[in-house]
Amino acid sequence: MSAPALTEANRLGPLHNHVAVITGASSGIGEAIARELAAAGVRLVLTARRADRLQSLQASLPVDSATLVAAIDDPVTPQALLDAALQRFGRVDILVNNAGIVVTGTVETMDLDALAQMTRVNFDAVVRASYVFARAFKRQGRGAIINVSSVGAYVSHSSMGVYAALKLALEGVTTALRVELKGSGVRVGSIAPGSTDTEIFDQLRTRAQAVGVALPAPLAPADVAAAVRFMLERPARANVARMLLVSASEPA
Ligand SMILES: NC(=O)c1ccc[n+]([C@@H]2O[C@H](COP(=O)([O-])OP(=O)(O)OC[C@H]3O[C@@H](n4cnc5c(N)ncnc54)[C@H](OP(=O)(O)O)[C@@H]3O)[C@@H](O)[C@H]2O)c1
Repeated sequence: MSAPALTEANRLGPLHNHVAVITGASSGIGEAIARELAAAGVRLVLTARRADRLQSLQASLPVDSATLVAAIDDPVTPQALLDAALQRFGRVDILVNNAGIVVTGTVETMDLDALAQMTRVNFDAVVRASYVFARAFKRQGRGAIINVSSVGAYVSHSSMGVYAALKLALEGVTTALRVELKGSGVRVGSIAPGSTDTEIFDQLRTRAQAVGVALPAPLAPADVAAAVRFMLERPARANVARMLLVSASEPA
């Protein structure tokens, strides 16, 4: 795929030449956010574990970008991402905490080790990255953190209770950081997508089919990415604290 050129409007837009770190950029919503922000002229640090996916994404973007192949649940990764952005671009403006997994199961079938891994990826790593970047952003008096939550934070399903609880906890941390950082130039917010057509949704669709449940028609990852861009393009005086973006056929 050849890299598309930036339009004149995007070259002049508010995010042009900013630098964003995006976790979980190798597929789904993270990949779409990378494409959307790149189209706005944002330079990127892309991270996930699948090197091949990151490399082909990088090659297709119209902006300069770096990749860091790493597990986000490794406690050294958030600082390594900050260092990578500063070394490569000399600045960092945006963190999108997007990487996440879903573990489902019943009392009988739940894989407890997988559940603990979900806690590390969906909550512990997001909290660590948020603090690492919040400190740097506060020092420089500028920055934005967006945490990708879920409609599941507000609607709990019995087989996904821990996923829902972790996303709700993430909403709480996001609010606490936003309030603590008020007036500092650092904006913190969350986006809670509904069903979105990604590898996670494939996993949920397979499980739903097995028990004869129909899932709603999902959002496209690009829909979520456009909402993230909207959040980031607000003027410095405005912070979209929380956005709930669901599929038009979402039952919740
Ligand atoms: N799809 C939905 O319906 C939906 C709805 C609401 C919220 N969300 C949220 O949206 C976010 C993105 O999910 P998605 O739907 O786009 O699913 P996806 O396509 O499966 O993407 C998940 C991303 O997370 C990365 N990741 C997973 N474990 C990781 C680890 N240990 N270290 C580093 N990266 C890791 C994956 O990269 P590698 O495997 O390459 O490491 C991948 O890039 C998640 O936080 C999810 O909870 C999704």
